[in-house]
Amino acid sequence: MTTDSGPEPQAVVSPLTKAAIFLVVVINPDEASADVARNLCADMSALVRAVGFRDLTGRLTCVTSVGAAAWDRLTGLPRPAGLHAFREIRADGRHAVSTPGDLLFHIRATTRMDLCFELATQIMRRLSGAVTTADEVHGFSYFDERDLLGFVDGTENPTGPAAERAAIIGAEEPDYAGGSYVIVQKYLHDLDAWNAVPVEEQEKIIGRTKLDDIELADDVKPTSAHNALNTIEVQGEEIKILRDNMPFGSVAAGEFGTYFIGYSRSPAITEQMLQNMFVGSPPGNYDRILDFSRAVTGTLFFVPSQSLLDSFGDLGAPGAESASTDLSARTGLAAGTSPPASTDLPANTNDGSLNVGSLRGDTPR
Ligand code: HEM
Repeated sequence: MTTDSGPEPQAVVSPLTKAAIFLVVVINPDEASADVARNLCADMSALVRAVGFRDLTGRLTCVTSVGAAAWDRLTGLPRPAGLHAFREIRADGRHAVSTPGDLLFHIRATTRMDLCFELATQIMRRLSGAVTTADEVHGFSYFDERDLLGFVDGTENPTGPAAERAAIIGAEEPDYAGGSYVIVQKYLHDLDAWNAVPVEEQEKIIGRTKLDDIELADDVKPTSAHNALNTIEVQGEEIKILRDNMPFGSVAAGEFGTYFIGYSRSPAITEQMLQNMFVGSPPGNYDRILDFSRAVTGTLFFVPSQSLLDSFGDLGAPGAESASTDLSARTGLAAGTSPPASTDLPANTNDGSLNVGSLRGDTPR
């Protein structure tokens, strides 16, 4: 479906929820498996409707995203400019690992985990024999939106039109308007070590007070604070990403974690944040959260617009006779004819530069 203001995005911009499942799968190498995956992508909206209708108050959503290699295999379309394998970062023993993933299903429901669980089950039933599960995390809401380090997580997230401006691609990539990029990382915390740190020190690591979640004043907040390193400014204006982190864990296994998920209209923003956290800004001035947390996964995906995802069933194997790399010819979408109103974004580049000169477009979609 295409709206007046451009292709309809998936449910990227959604209120925080109490329940979520993060499912990452790798598609088997044969063409039949790719076909199964393609057809599932095309049917995702119907599947979400079918499960979600059983309790509409549960507001079930799923955002389906595609990794770089799978994009080439499944669609044969030109790669979205910012889509590439997640780039690992190594610095002084800190390691942002890069792990495999062809499809990411980010399943959310306001309160009911059963809705998420049922949808995940239906997805895996459809994909049976065609994929290997790389990771499955069941996230939960921990008291007042806290992570397992005990801090409120999500406060400075953009909301409403600002969230769309942060996460949804506009005219900078007209063929992929209504899409987004997403980076996920699964972190495991050493809670015993963290809890041994005095609260005042913890607050300096995060950059906010623990109990009442107030941002530390500039003269108290270290430049290595998590929220300082993750504030990206371009020409004096802050560029945000849209996060929906979730705690997860297993008491018996002594596993206490945070599942980081960050949507953005250019992955360069989140990549810059990761650089600041792991390498430091300036180098060496790194994020002390990493003294107590280690990333065990790291993957980058492209989120096609809902309209494009719905048309995946029409995309043959690349190289097949009918295959054309022309997006509008193959999907019937009038790509680029009606981009969202945020029209001043530059194209993503693959040269590793941040290229966020005009990511400040502030016209709401
Ligand atoms: C161990 C994993 C992580 C934990 C426990 C964590 C926790 C937090 C907390 C408690 C806050 C302050 C409240 C808020 O504004 O949300 C915060 C802010 C933030 N985090 Fe994280 N975070 C983690 C990983 C990341 C990663 C990997 C990124 C980016 C690549 C990131 C980006 C941000 C941003 C952009 C902010 C808001 C900064 C601001 O504008 O004040 N976080 N995080």
